[in-house]
Amino acid sequence: MEQKKLQVKNLQISFRTQAGILKAVRNITFDLYTGETLAIVGESGSGKSVTSKAIIGILAGNSIIEGGEILYDGQDLLKIDEEHFHKIRGDKIAMIFQDPLSSLNPIMRVGKQLTEAMMLNGKARQKSARKEFGLHLKLLEQNLNAVNQDKAENKQLVETFNKFCLIATNLEKDYNEANAVAVGLKTELEELVFLLEKNQKVALVPALRNIRSKSKKAKHYYVVREEELIPIFDEITLTIGDKKRLADSVNVIALLKKLIEVLEVGINRECPNFFRLGFYKFKNPDFDETTFDSVKELDEMTLNYLNNQFMSNFVALGQKGVQNSRDVSIAKKKVLVVKLEQLKSYFLDNNELSLKDIKKMLKPVMKEVNDATDYLRVKKHSIEYSFGISIVHEVKRYFEGLKRNPINQRKYDKQKYKWDTLVNQGKSPTWKVVPPFLVDLELTKGNIIKIISDLIDRYYHDINSKTFDAREEMIILVDFFKEQASRLVYRVTPGIAKTRALALLKEVGIPEPAVRYKQYPFEFSGGMRQRIVIAIALSANPDILICDEPTTALDVTIQSQILELINKIKNERNISVIFITHDLGVVANMADHVAVMYAGKIVEYGTVEDIFYDPRHPYTWALLSSMPDLDTKEKLDAIPGTPPNLIYPPVGDAFAERNKYAMEIDFEKEPPLFQVSETHYAATWLLHPSAPKVEPPKIIIERINRMKKEAENYGK
Ligand SMILES: Nc1ncnc2c1ncn2[C@@H]1O[C@H](COP(=O)(O)OP(=O)(O)OP(=O)(O)O)[C@@H](O)[C@H]1O
Ligand SMILES: [Mg+2]
Repeated sequence: MEQKKLQVKNLQISFRTQAGILKAVRNITFDLYTGETLAIVGESGSGKSVTSKAIIGILAGNSIIEGGEILYDGQDLLKIDEEHFHKIRGDKIAMIFQDPLSSLNPIMRVGKQLTEAMMLNGKARQKSARKEFGLHLKLLEQNLNAVNQDKAENKQLVETFNKFCLIATNLEKDYNEANAVAVGLKTELEELVFLLEKNQKVALVPALRNIRSKSKKAKHYYVVREEELIPIFDEITLTIGDKKRLADSVNVIALLKKLIEVLEVGINRECPNFFRLGFYKFKNPDFDETTFDSVKELDEMTLNYLNNQFMSNFVALGQKGVQNSRDVSIAKKKVLVVKLEQLKSYFLDNNELSLKDIKKMLKPVMKEVNDATDYLRVKKHSIEYSFGISIVHEVKRYFEGLKRNPINQRKYDKQKYKWDTLVNQGKSPTWKVVPPFLVDLELTKGNIIKIISDLIDRYYHDINSKTFDAREEMIILVDFFKEQASRLVYRVTPGIAKTRALALLKEVGIPEPAVRYKQYPFEFSGGMRQRIVIAIALSANPDILICDEPTTALDVTIQSQILELINKIKNERNISVIFITHDLGVVANMADHVAVMYAGKIVEYGTVEDIFYDPRHPYTWALLSSMPDLDTKEKLDAIPGTPPNLIYPPVGDAFAERNKYAMEIDFEKEPPLFQVSETHYAATWLLHPSAPKVEPPKIIIERINRMKKEAENYGK
């Protein structure tokens, strides 16, 4: 089944401006599935960029998130704390912008720009792994103490686990480091071969000396072994030594390639399961694993040993601890829901809120929510974690809005008086009157109530859930420990970063990466620069890529190459893409779903076929007609008029002013999103059952028929 990667729900974003509150995004909702491209299309100013900036959390300082949710894998990005947000934003969601120059540092070589991000990410990951490992182990011990009287036994169990994990991580670390050196070395050798084959001048002797000395660090029983390297190096020395000067390069190149092959084999050599081996060595410090020829046999032996000597006991007891942690949490939640209901009623029942009362109620509740959270569980519910931050944030906003309102009201009265006077004198002032309310109090109050309701729902769900399997949870916890331990010793070395950077440059279609790696952004063409920006975006392995008009600054042929590249990346990596454009033309070959935006709203949403073959909103018709036809080359009507001022959004359908099919109701009432089919929605009164039947403009019908015919011919 298709999986929802990102869900945007009822998102509303405004900006404070000199002229008043500008409502840039007005309640939009859409889903993004794994492996699909969603295109967001609309004229300039419709809110496309604001939406994408909200998703990656880089809205301008004057923005106000009025409401809504952005769920990534079930976590609300608008509510989780900074630390987690950074992890997701940096790692999981990446963005490329219209102007590649502005996202590149002009005075740094592109290679460095790529590797720097990777190394920084690596460090942050190590730090968080250390923290998580320690924290969960401590919690486990506490819970064991609650279920097992023998505290000494618990302590020993936890300490044993900690100690052998340490041995395991050290083993893994040695292996990682040797492997990383081998990877870096291989890249270096490939570069050398590349230069030699191009007949470039190379200081071969020092280069080889350098490589030989580095190769010592790559030596490891499970990477490259001494006896594999020495003969080749000796042969190389002989070949060069024979000729005194430089050299029979053909021979040298062949030998270097042999070396590359040896490294390649070493890099991919099977290594043992260090976690199990760590335990074995903890118990048998003198054990030499190289006495085992077969990694498989070694793994089996250490697994049995680990299970018999430790793991069965650890899991059996641990599962009781996990169960305890949950039971305690549920018991607390049962008590707490009552208090939460009371808190909710306070907001529902009172028109006049008192900050003092709220503080008095909220403080203990927040503490209890904290206490009731099952922190030992690996899978976290963001609603519980973010409850405190979110509710404090909203309450603060509410009272700031309230506090500031009287002043704003006076200011507003004064300005209004001035404005009216000027107008009465026949003048037309160039400035605008700032409305008195900076915060919509009702909306903010609604947000507060929603935060409490969500938590109550979450609690009831937990309390009533019958599916908790403590043994399963304990195994998940052990896996989590293993994962954190591995993260702890996974270092992105400069060698690895470079290798990955070169692979990325290749992936995005930059020829001769080894040469390009060392160049500055200005040495690249616009299209090539955009490819580099894409490579940087991919460097953290994101699963969502947001492309905001990535081709607008490029000329047409380059444009289609970049589009092709984005398509290729999406397919090969199975990531989700949000593709933002004002040009419906590019969407046809890119998108799976299309959201048409107008004046901060989604006015039509459907599959690409829905939008192109069966468009329903007059604005979509207008966009389609303004799209140049590839066959006839005729450019049809530009959309007359301009979008509305979003400081004073119109009451009815925002497009009514420019819509020749507009009915009276379009000026009075906002149309809901009518459902056309299972996949297709449009917000236009034309879809109301009592509306007169209106066909799309003839020119569009003709075009649709032509497109359909083409598609059929294509099929044959
Ligand atoms: N920091 C800001 N302060 C005030 N208004 C803003 C700010 N950022 C965006 N806006 C306004 O929000 C509205 C939506 O802007 P947005 O950048 O999302 O448009 P867009 O659809 O991306 O258009 P374009 O095709 O021009 O990029 C516009 O009216 C814009 O002027
Ligand atoms: Mg934009």
